[in-house]
Amino acid sequence: MNINELFNVEGKTAVVTGGSRGIGEMITAGLLANGVKVYITARKIGPLLAKAEELSNKYNGECIALGCDLSTLEGVTSFANQIKEKEEGIDFLINNAGAAWAEPFDTFSEAGWDKVMDLNTKSLFFLSQQMKPLLTKNASLEDPSRIINIGSIDGLNTPAFETFSYSTSKAAVHHLTRHLAHRLVRENILVNAIAPGPYPSNMLGAAVAHDYSEIAKRNPRKRVGTPEDIAGLVIFMCSRAGAYTVGETVTSDGGIVKTSSHNLS
Ligand SMILES: NC(=O)c1ccc[n+]([C@@H]2O[C@H](COP(=O)([O-])OP(=O)(O)OC[C@H]3O[C@@H](n4cnc5c(N)ncnc54)[C@H](OP(=O)(O)O)[C@@H]3O)[C@@H](O)[C@H]2O)c1
Repeated sequence: MNINELFNVEGKTAVVTGGSRGIGEMITAGLLANGVKVYITARKIGPLLAKAEELSNKYNGECIALGCDLSTLEGVTSFANQIKEKEEGIDFLINNAGAAWAEPFDTFSEAGWDKVMDLNTKSLFFLSQQMKPLLTKNASLEDPSRIINIGSIDGLNTPAFETFSYSTSKAAVHHLTRHLAHRLVRENILVNAIAPGPYPSNMLGAAVAHDYSEIAKRNPRKRVGTPEDIAGLVIFMCSRAGAYTVGETVTSDGGIVKTSSHNLS
């Protein structure tokens, strides 16, 4: 029952897709700070390598950069093969890489639909499928492996922006999480999702010109998310403390989804 045992993740190996910045970087930092070896991926190899070096030095840990484009099945397979060459087993797969697209309903393009659905939903499924042998290798009844899918509150609430493929892709991620959890729990792989609210990043920053003050003001907690908020939840889910939590989508949004009220009068 000691907190150091309950939340211990030391000595584990994780893959965090899209770990070069934003929420993926926050999760990677939290895992590295607590003794996890972390593989991070992204398309832009320069910033990815620099981030891996920065985080390895900062947390005196092992952060390894593997460049890849996860938007196609070919890219997913090539990435999975790279990991298989380096590791016999992994403990945690954090499916975080994602993209957004906004376009008015009347002109919303096929490109904007396919790009988002391909990366956010399809690749997440096929990467989970291809990483399963590695997750299985380290999985046991006492110490299961974990998949954590990063969804979004936009897959739970109705978004204000015209981001039709994004909200659809994230709702799909939440449901796929339950379906995968059902299939994989018997093999001691626990699947859960996190639905983040506003976290500072390139993705959210692009929508608000990197000024989060209005978003913070409107948030029930009067702020945006921090690395501690998302890393703490991931560590809970990956540790002994989270080993009986299966198929959940947990919001990390300052209360946006669960404290919103409706006035019907
Ligand atoms: N920030 C928020 O407020 C928020 C809220 C709800 C949900 N989310 C979700 O959180 C996740 C992370 O988002 P973020 O806000 O941190 O976004 P971000 O700052 O844009 O980071 C996205 C990461 O994914 C990588 N990536 C993008 N396309 C990729 C591809 N085709 N193949 C491989 N890697 C790729 C990016 O690196 P490269 O560009 O170099 O490939 C980067 O490392 C996403 O799933 C997003 O939907 C974010």
